[in-house]
Formats: sequence, C-alpha cells, structure tokens
Amino acid sequence: MNEYNIAVVAGDGIGPEVTKEAMRVLDAAGEVFGFKVKRNEYPFGTDHYLKTDEIFPDAAFEEVKGMDAIFLGAIGDPRAPVGLIEYGIIAKMRFELDLYINLRPIKLFDERLCPLKGKTVDDINMLIVRENTEGAYAGMHGFCHKGQASEIATQTMVYSRFGVERAIRFSFELAMNRPRKQVTLIDKANAVRAHDIWTRTFAEVAREYPDVKTDHAYVDAACMWMIKNPEWFDVAVTTNLFGDIVTDLAAMLQGGMGIAASGNLHPGRVSLFEPIHGSAPKYANKGVASPAASIMAISMMLDYVGEKQASKAVETTIAELLRSGRLKGVGTGQHATSEVGDMVLGELKNVAAKV
Ligand code: IPM
Ligand code: MG
Repeated sequence: MNEYNIAVVAGDGIGPEVTKEAMRVLDAAGEVFGFKVKRNEYPFGTDHYLKTDEIFPDAAFEEVKGMDAIFLGAIGDPRAPVGLIEYGIIAKMRFELDLYINLRPIKLFDERLCPLKGKTVDDINMLIVRENTEGAYAGMHGFCHKGQASEIATQTMVYSRFGVERAIRFSFELAMNRPRKQVTLIDKANAVRAHDIWTRTFAEVAREYPDVKTDHAYVDAACMWMIKNPEWFDVAVTTNLFGDIVTDLAAMLQGGMGIAASGNLHPGRVSLFEPIHGSAPKYANKGVASPAASIMAISMMLDYVGEKQASKAVETTIAELLRSGRLKGVGTGQHATSEVGDMVLGELKNVAAKV
C-alpha cells in the first residue's frame, strides 16, 4: 500500500476549519483508493508567532523538505506586521523549496456559479501558470530617506532566463496534453521593457512545440478578455505578480475564491498545495467558510503524488454535488463548513465506483 507523508500547516483565520475538512476528505480518499496518509501537523501561523516569536523554525523546515507534499490552509492575520508571516511561511516555502510553478486551474463546474451572462461550462476551463519564484516577489527592495518627505522606495522585478524559460516550458508541456493545445503569454512588454525576456523566450520555446498554438495578451487586456471571452484561454503563463492578480479575477469565473485551488510545484520534488483564498479573519471560528477550495487543493495534491483516480474522484464529487444542487454554492455561509465535508464524504464512494 502506498503511504504518503504530508506536512500540514493549517495557519490563520479560517485555515484550521477548512483544513480539517480537507484532511477528512484526504483520509476518506485513502480508504476508498487504498493508500495511507501520515500527517505531520505544524502549528505555524500568527497565533503561534504571537505566543512563541517563532515563524517557521529551521528544524521543522528541514523535516518538511523530506515529505511527499505540503498542505497549507491560509495565512494572514492583522495582529502581525503586514507580510511578516506571509513571507516567513508561504514565500519561504515557495523560494527555499524552489516551487517555481504556481498552477491555478480555473474550471466552471456548473453554469449557476458563473457571474457572467451566457457562459457555459465549456467556456471556462483554463490553467493559469504563475511563475512563482521571481518577478516583483523576489524581495529586492529598499528605502532611502525613510520617514522623511523625500523618502524613496524601490522594488525590483527580477526575471532570469532560467526562471522564465522553465515556467514557459512547463506551460507548453501542459498544453500538449490538453485538447485545445494553446498557450497564451500574459505580460506587459509594451510598458515594462524587461518583459522582453518573456516575449523572446516564449517565441523560442514555442518553436519546439509546433503542435501548440500560441497567443499573447497584455495583462490589462487579458483582464478584459477573461471577462468578455473567457473561452479564448486554455493554458496561460505569466509573471508572479500578474499571476497573483489575474487568478483572483479568474477565480470569480468559476464561482469565487471558495473553490479556487493551487499547486506550488517543483516537478519531482516536495510541492505545496493550498486554496487561493486568504485567511478571512472575520469569518474565523464561525464554521461558515467553504472548504471546497481546500478540497480541490487535495485533489491537486493527489494528482501530484500519483493517485490520479483518487484525485479525479475528489474533483468529480465536488462537481456532481454542485451540478445536482445539493451543494448550493461555494460562498461563505451557504453551508456549514463541516456540512460540505460530510457531503463529500457521503458521495465519494459512489463517485469512486465510476471514475
Ligand atoms: C496568493 C496570495 C499570496 C501571494 C500572499 C498571501 C502573499 O495572495 O497566494 O495568491 O501574493 O502570492
Ligand atoms: Mg493572491
């Protein structure tokens, strides 16, 4: 029987509640599909920091490196200085584990979830590939004359040929396995001149994939097209910051942050799976947050570790619950958090027999 070591950081706000349901689903999938999960739970997040001054100690970080995958609930809490815990936990893992791809699937399971008029499930099915270790997130910033009227702040966007190329190549490989076989580059090369490295690298890599159609949109136009004609997108690749922004927008097309999941990947190495949503402190401890995004992150994690059927079953369960109307939606308060977990557990076995 396959056994997986999973690190779990439930984190802040609604993180622990949605993580609890995600873990129930992971265990249930293990029972149905015959694999074992050994969970290593870490208490890191704002509460832990305020109590102990510790963010992500080295010993724990070393342990996590040896796991098969990591699950993260949510990070962010106004009681801690802005960005401190985010940088100490999420960004630390993304950078130090070199999780260079942030894969964010956007797939509409039921028309009723989409805020756009006249769009169907066939129109919204895209994979957004966000470069995950460079760009504006690389951390190169500084201040001078701090606190004075003449203060200057800078932050440098960083793009290495290596980093850009591996994100683009990953996107073409993804597209090869999809029916439409199309990759759209989203950048702002007309204003951010450094994005020329994306333009050139994209063109060079594209030559190696003659079966893949290519397209391009500046990021402002891409935001417009995603609302106007989301069906134009299949695989889209973009920079770290633009990927952060366009995936919040794109998540709304499939029903909102309540269902959007992501994988922070370094193919072949330990990778990190999380819902795209934040910690929503105002909903914490109320049992009203939707765990659907976390459950979708479990589906991505299962796919990544090689449990393809279990992954498909978890995704299909959520899709069927939505289509049948049993799951009324994935917004806050539409169902109790645990009720969604119960529904998925109740349905998983039936779906498993079909996938
Ligand atoms: C995301 C989040 C993070 C990011 C924050 C929490 C630092 O918005 O994963 O999209 O900006 O990458
Ligand atoms: Mg974001």
